[in-house]
Amino acid sequence: MSFPQHRPRRLRATAALRKLTAEVRVEPSQLILPAFIREGISEPVPLQSMPGVVQHTTASLRKAAAEAAELGLGGIMLFGVPAVRDAAGSAGVDPEGVLNRAIADVKAEVGHDLVVMSDVCLDEFTDHGHCGVLAPDGSVDNDATLEIYARMAVVQAQAGADVLGPSGMMDGQVAVIRQALDEAGLQNTAVLAYAAKYSSAFYGPFREAVDSQLKGDRRTYQMDPSNRREAILEVELDLQEGADMVMVKPAMSYLDILADVAEMSPVPVAAYQISGEYAMIEAAAANGWIDRKAAILESVLGIRRAGADMVLTYWAAEMARWLKESN
Ligand code: PBG
Repeated sequence: MSFPQHRPRRLRATAALRKLTAEVRVEPSQLILPAFIREGISEPVPLQSMPGVVQHTTASLRKAAAEAAELGLGGIMLFGVPAVRDAAGSAGVDPEGVLNRAIADVKAEVGHDLVVMSDVCLDEFTDHGHCGVLAPDGSVDNDATLEIYARMAVVQAQAGADVLGPSGMMDGQVAVIRQALDEAGLQNTAVLAYAAKYSSAFYGPFREAVDSQLKGDRRTYQMDPSNRREAILEVELDLQEGADMVMVKPAMSYLDILADVAEMSPVPVAAYQISGEYAMIEAAAANGWIDRKAAILESVLGIRRAGADMVLTYWAAEMARWLKESN
């Protein structure tokens, strides 16, 4: 009788052995909680397509941010839902706009205990729902949009954001934001570039979260899901333009892209586990088709294993609680 010469099962025999030999781990400090602040509401509004996620009031957002800091999360990424929209997305550049005020509030709440990040994009603020302003022919005007992003970035940084996340996929957006920040004396505000952001059906629930006015799609500016090589180009350009960190988004359907970027990037790499990824797991779990906690942990572990240094996930706080309990 001959025996197997190699027995990888030895290291799987006990929980202690598995823990010792785990190649990647998830730490609360690697998790970033995306959060929505909505203008003009007196109670948090639950999102139907994202059970467990709400549009916050100022008070509930401050509480969530304080809790995120308490749990040792890496950061919070803020998105604003304004009461009034227009074609130019003016509420986004108004220092009194909902997002800019929320940044200041959150910063006042958490100080340097939590990295405060904010979304630099117009889609939440425009009445047509696009990430930029429109040219007369109805297309999204890249360069006219850049000027607005530059102003938006300065206002957000002045409100107290530590890191800005330009997510609109306009060409040259990192460069104009970096330049505007530097000219305004905000050279310490960092840029987390949504470098490889794909045009994805999995953004669906987010559109409810920000009450999106979009009709149609974003295929003329977000990347085509068929393309892998192009992600490297986008990352290289953002690095040349001064990105401090780069992001791949969505995460789960783009783990190959994430692995490519993690391999070549000299700066930290983030991945965004987006609203549709959240919704799919929640829906399957609610039906009893998968083990919710195990599926959530496995999904984020997979994103880490593919190469993400940090993960934006709507489960960030809950996961941090689980990780604390298991230690
Ligand atoms: C654009 C933006 C979007 C998301 C983050 N920033 C929406 C889009 O590109 O359509 C999606 C995040 C998610 O789905 O969780 N400001």
